[in-house]
Amino acid sequence: MRPKRTWSQRRRLADPIEEHAAFDKTESRIALAGHPLHAMMVTYPIALAFLTFGADALFWWTGDPFWPRVAVWTAGVGFVAGVFAGITGAVELLIVPGIRIRAPSWTHFILACTLLSVMGVNWGYRLPDAQAAVLPFGILISALGMGMTAVTGWHGGKLVFDYRIGTQRDHSD
Ligand code: HEM
Repeated sequence: MRPKRTWSQRRRLADPIEEHAAFDKTESRIALAGHPLHAMMVTYPIALAFLTFGADALFWWTGDPFWPRVAVWTAGVGFVAGVFAGITGAVELLIVPGIRIRAPSWTHFILACTLLSVMGVNWGYRLPDAQAAVLPFGILISALGMGMTAVTGWHGGKLVFDYRIGTQRDHSD
């Protein structure tokens, strides 16, 4: 229950989102002992997107056919891990009212879906011939995926540390 507001507080322009009863209900529900699964799972696609670019760059530099085989695995496992991480994030977004009501949550969803599409293309493009795929388009897709991972990951951190999404605010229940 919100405390009664004074007359001067009531004169402020109202923000319908902030006024909504669900505004403070931001606590993670897809969690293990209160720790959001999404935050634990996103570490895999983030690391693997960077490693895919690293493997492509090493192939460009050394010409060693070992690196394209590494890249096809990092791209594939990164994509699958990203889809699982995305599912936990999406369920959280849909079932937690204080997360669902905030626009930045949906911005993160759009960024993440675009990123997952790029990661999927990066994997699928390499499957027929991992070595031939690297130069020039494989490494370009990897660079795009790495940049988008940085933006999406930074934005995910903003959700938690700026908007306090996924954290407990309402201690009444
Ligand atoms: C459909 C896709 C996704 C949705 C709907 C989604 C949703 C969310 C939500 C609601 C949070 C707030 C924390 C929580 O409640 O768990 C969050 C945090 C975060 N997300 Fe996502 N996410 C998605 C995919 C991704 C992907 C693919 C990445 C990888 C780049 C990512 C990176 C992050 C990061 C780094 C955080 C901050 C975690 C922390 O520091 O605690 N998300 N996401």
